[in-house]
Order: sequence, then C-alpha cells, then structure tokens
Amino acid sequence: MTHEPAGIEQKTQAFLDRQNHRMLIDGQWVDALKNKRMQVVNPAEETVIGSIPSAHSDDVNKAVGCAKAALEQGAWGKMRPSGRQNLLLKLADLIERDARIIAELEAIDNGKSAAIAQAVDIGLGLEFFRYMAGWATKIEGSTLDVSMPFAPPEADFFAYTRREPVGVVAAIIPWNFPFLMACWKLAPALAAGCTVVLKPAEQTSLSALYLGELIAEANFPDGVVNIVTGDGQSTGSALITHPDINKISFTGSTQVGQLIGRAAMDNMARVTLELGGKSPMIVLEDCDPEKAAQGAAVAIFFNHGQTCSAGSRLYVHRSIFDTVVNRLAELAEAIPMGPGLDPAAQMGPLVSQVQLDRVCHYIETGCQEGARLVTGGERADRKGYYVKPTIFASEDDSLVIAREEIFGPVLVAIPFDDVDDVVERANDSRYGLAASIWSNDLSQVQRLIPRLKAGTVWVNGHNMLDSNVPFGGYKLSGVGRDMGKQSLDSYLETKSVFMAL
Ligand code: NAI
Ligand code: MG
Repeated sequence: MTHEPAGIEQKTQAFLDRQNHRMLIDGQWVDALKNKRMQVVNPAEETVIGSIPSAHSDDVNKAVGCAKAALEQGAWGKMRPSGRQNLLLKLADLIERDARIIAELEAIDNGKSAAIAQAVDIGLGLEFFRYMAGWATKIEGSTLDVSMPFAPPEADFFAYTRREPVGVVAAIIPWNFPFLMACWKLAPALAAGCTVVLKPAEQTSLSALYLGELIAEANFPDGVVNIVTGDGQSTGSALITHPDINKISFTGSTQVGQLIGRAAMDNMARVTLELGGKSPMIVLEDCDPEKAAQGAAVAIFFNHGQTCSAGSRLYVHRSIFDTVVNRLAELAEAIPMGPGLDPAAQMGPLVSQVQLDRVCHYIETGCQEGARLVTGGERADRKGYYVKPTIFASEDDSLVIAREEIFGPVLVAIPFDDVDDVVERANDSRYGLAASIWSNDLSQVQRLIPRLKAGTVWVNGHNMLDSNVPFGGYKLSGVGRDMGKQSLDSYLETKSVFMAL
C-alpha cells in the first residue's frame, strides 16, 4: 500500500515558495556579499527545492561584529534577567504555535517524519527554551570568606563571584536534528545573556532560518541572534577562527570537532563539543527478549540511525541472542518507510547522497568482513536516499562496522557469555557518548553503571533525553555538556571580586 503525502500548511508552502532564502545578520535578511548560493535538496525526492546563501569570511565578519556590538552597546547587555526570560518564553510560544510548520520543513529538508519531528524535535526544542528561560533569572555567584593570613589582624576584606555571559558565541550544528540542535545551543546562550552567530548545516538550514523569523517576531534586539548559512570550509572555518568569538559550541563529527578544538585554543575560546559515538546496548541474561528487541529497534532505527547516541552495537547474552536478533529482524522488516510528510512512514530517506554512499559503503564493508547479514543490507527500491533497516550478526567486535560510527540504520549484534567480558568490550571504543543496560537485576545494573565509560547510561531504555539532564560524551565523543544547568554554566564566565574595606 502506498500512502500519498498529506498536504502541507500554507505557511510552510509560502516559506518554500521563496526559493532563494536569505540569512539573518543584525536583524536584516540578507544575501551573501559575494552573492554565492548553495542548493537545498529534498532527500525523499532527490530534487533541488531552493537555495541558501553561501556565506564567506566577509559575511561572517559582519555577523560577528554585529553580535559583539549587540552584546556591548545594545539593549541586550542592559536587559534585566526577567527581560531575557520573557523573550525566551515568547519565543517558545511562537515555536509551539508553528510546530507543525517547522516539522514540515524538517521533513522536506532532512527527510525525517514530520509527525515524529513535531512531537520529538520541536517538542523537546520548545520545552528546552522554557526550561532555560527559568534559569535566566536564577544565575548567581557566591560570597566567599577569606583568611588572608599575611594581612594585619585589623584589616577587613570582602570577596564574591559574579557570573557574566561568556560573550559572542559561535554555534555550529549538524543536519541530523537541525531544529533541536539550534535550540540546544541558542537557549542556554541567550539565557546566560550571550549573543550568537549560528551556522546550521548546509544540508538542512531551512528550519533554522524559520526560527530566525520567530526570533525577530519575538522582538529580540537586532544582532543578538545572527544566522549565517554555508558549508564548513568557507563559512564554518571563518567563524571558528574569528578572534572575537568567545565560545564555540559544536555538534557534529569527531574529526571536525578536533579541528574546532584546536582552532578554539588559538583564541582561548571556550568550547563545548558534542561528537560521534558507537554506543553499546547491553542485554543481560534476565531481560525479556521481546523488550530487548523492541528497545534495540528504537535505539538504532530512531531517526534512521542518524543519531549520535544510536545503539549501534548490540551485546546480547548468548542464551537469548538468537531470539532477540530474530525478533529484531522482524521488527526491522515491518518499519514503514516513506517521505517525512507521509503520516504512516516511520523511517524516511537518509539526509543526502553523500550520507547514502557512506552508509552503503559500510554495509559492503560488513559483508566483506564476514559479518552475517540478518536483514536489510541495501537501498530501498524507490526514489530517494532510502536504506533498508540493516542488521548484522558477528562474534567478532573488532570489525570495522563494529568500531566506526556509521550514522545510518545499521546495527551489529554480538553475543556475550560473561558480564566482565562485555563491560571490557563495551568500553573498548574510542567513543564514550552513551550506553544502555537492559536488565531487572538491580544489583547487577548498579555495579555496571560506574564501570561504563559513557556520558549517559540508560537503564531499560535508550535515547531518553530531558532538558534537565546533561548530555555529552567521554573520550572522543566530546567535551562539556549540552542541556541541564551544566550547559548554562558553560555560557558563563566567573568573575572574582575582591575588596579591601
Ligand atoms: P560535519 O562534522 O562535517 O558537519 C557538522 C557541522 O560542522 C556542519 O554545520 C558543517 O558545515 C560544519 N563544519 C564542517 N567542517 C567544518 C570546519 N572545518 N569548520 C567549521 N565548521 C565545519 O559532519 P558531516 O560531514 O555532515 O557528517 C560526517 C559524519 O559525522 C557522519 O557520517 C557522522 O558519522 C558524523 N556526525 C555526527 C553528528 C553528531 O550528532 N554527533 C552529527 C552529524 C554528523
Ligand atoms: Mg536538505
């Protein structure tokens, strides 16, 4: 049965009809100074549906200059915390009003399901703005008692700390959760009182540009949020090397994260890096195989596997291995695929031809390495960058497909016999973003949690996220945390004030 895509909202259509989109600098919608453009592609149709400006260093310099002026000279720097709070709440209301439109833009530009995006990506994004709005009025320093042993006994002192916005933030985000990543970076930066230059991924800039319109509608002062579009080579690199950038917040590949970390140190810009993963899912002997199979399907196939925390290594106790893997294969084969606008589709196309080629190459590698292909293993027979949900099984977790981040709907299932052994194997990765444990044996679970080298450990679930819970990685999965109060702190400097009375 084929499902015809539902019609889209008028406002979505009107936005798309502009075709040649513009970027936001100092409250103005502008083209790139050199007038260069990049194509916007719909991955379900493999068609060009418009273009975005390709910003060059001149454009980036202008955006950073405006962000700096907005911080130092404009109304933003003088605004009270409650003013920032109210703007963030207003923005969240506008996002809620237009949630369907944003979700449709994600579906058309990225390929993901509009229904899922509206509930998850947009839902989490607007909730995060509300969460961070609350923090804007709760920033505090401390008063510090001092001893000053070398001062005369009659001398008096007063010392305290104040938290100040770190300054101008460069936010560079990927294409897998285009809108949500923009929210993860903007909300804490604005709550802290920073100004921002945001660069969305070149594959998926539309929802960020739409967010720019809502930011203008909410009446943020000009220059507080600037959005420059373009690729990593010309736009991104101009941004990360700019001397007036005080903090870089990045989500994307480990390779680019390492490059950004090095560039940041030249200017001592603060960095938050949320990078790749190869997250293990560990299913202990006592786990109900049905629950494990359902959980694994969500862990790997959510967002078509294009998720940094995807459960891409599935370790299952040998006693239930076959039952879990066979059931998972049934679930994989039953996932309805289709364009994001099809309300029945749960899995859409991958984001781009490049990503399709990358994922297909890994599938070929897995077959050549001798892993057993349980299901999938090829493109779907239809237009668009679709890859069938793919499951490999192997005894050997030193295979390339069991070590490298694939970032597609491809899972490797591996049996284990012994808990100590599986902990060692789960940790034997250059990544450490997340891990999940599946068991009702509380003592066993509690003993395992501290042993796993991962920024997040989920128990009897995977990919669970909340505004109040920090998210980020150990090892090559990154530096610092998104979300939670820890994220707010990373957009603040500490100033120590010391007075002789
Ligand atoms: P990428 O890391 O190149 O792109 C992410 C962002 O960084 C984009 O906005 C891009 O324009 C920007 N960028 C790229 N090079 C830059 C540079 N030199 N300076 C400044 N900014 C730069 O990721 P890409 O190429 O799209 O995907 C490659 C692989 O990275 C994926 O297959 C996946 O394994 C991983 N990835 C991980 C993500 C995560 O959430 N951890 C998200 C996206 C990709
Ligand atoms: Mg696109």
